[in-house]
Amino acid sequence: MKNIILTGDRPTGNLHLGHYVGSLEARVKLQNSMDYDKFYIMIADTQALTDNADRVDKVKNNIIQVAIDYISVGIDPEKVSIFIQSMVPELHEFTSYFMNLVTLARLQRNPTIKEELKVRGFEKSIPIGFINYPISQASDILAFGTTLVPVGDDQLPMIEQAREIVNSFNYTYSPKEEVFALPKEFISENKLCRRLPGIDGKLKMSKSAGNAIYLCDDEKTVREKIMSAYTDPDHIRVTDPGKIEGNVVFAYLDAFCKDEHFAKYLPDYKNLDELKAHYRRGGLGDVKVKTFLIKIVEELLTPIRERRNECLKHIDEIYEMLFTRSAEASREARARLEKMKEAMGINYRNLFRK
Ligand code: TRP
Repeated sequence: MKNIILTGDRPTGNLHLGHYVGSLEARVKLQNSMDYDKFYIMIADTQALTDNADRVDKVKNNIIQVAIDYISVGIDPEKVSIFIQSMVPELHEFTSYFMNLVTLARLQRNPTIKEELKVRGFEKSIPIGFINYPISQASDILAFGTTLVPVGDDQLPMIEQAREIVNSFNYTYSPKEEVFALPKEFISENKLCRRLPGIDGKLKMSKSAGNAIYLCDDEKTVREKIMSAYTDPDHIRVTDPGKIEGNVVFAYLDAFCKDEHFAKYLPDYKNLDELKAHYRRGGLGDVKVKTFLIKIVEELLTPIRERRNECLKHIDEIYEMLFTRSAEASREARARLEKMKEAMGINYRNLFRK
């Protein structure tokens, strides 16, 4: 069986450290593992419009931003096919047929949808396009024969929905040969840092909460954000004992700090456990820990920023690459679409030619 990887992001803003830890880092690792036949990353502009119908400019302008973020963190467009969702119109055709296989009640039970309806104030009046996006996302996944979907926890219900559609399709149309692979999730192994809190201490770093450190933030901004990050409100004097739990700076250190960073930037300690122990005991000030964190984050972001500046000189080529890849993806989706229609018995041309 072929190993086909597909994932994507909505282009609603620049990507931040939460994305890096939650998915981008794993994608780069996966890209370099060479253990796949095809790797797609989709810029989900159509999906972004399901809750941004009146903010087309925002979605449009962020397509290139997200593409640049990908390339800046080390996604290689030669290895990974980066394409734009709306430029693969076949996806809508898949969605039309899949919609007949899913009930409204099933969509309303999707935990991610439930949560998002609440957050967006859509509960009383649900846009059809929005509630339908798990089916549309199933099309994204199934159209390419995807076997592996690298995503965060919140996307698991979407993959489950896609699997249900495959089963329902097979049950309903009994295809003679397999049309759709059963996709599986690929969750990054480091559970601890799968979700990064915001600098304000809120559970999740996100653009909407305004608590994110962006991959494109400059050094000064990163410094200011980390210096203002939420720590332990009871840790007032340096001598006070401090709490690690809920302390954003330590959550980030958990995600980014390696032993060699101590040798380089803070040789008084061997590792993070020693630093945490001192903080808990008292006698270790927030500024010292934050300064250490800034150095680590800067080490990560400096090469990303450099690549971003390079990309900014080649915007036209990046657009060309996206258009080429989208056209290729469209042809690939078309091939599977024909197979699907064949299996459903609605490929009329083939029927009548016989
Ligand atoms: N729903 C995903 C997000 O909000 C984006 C997405 C769209 C996606 N289609 C996908 C992710 C297919 C994985 C596979 O980030």
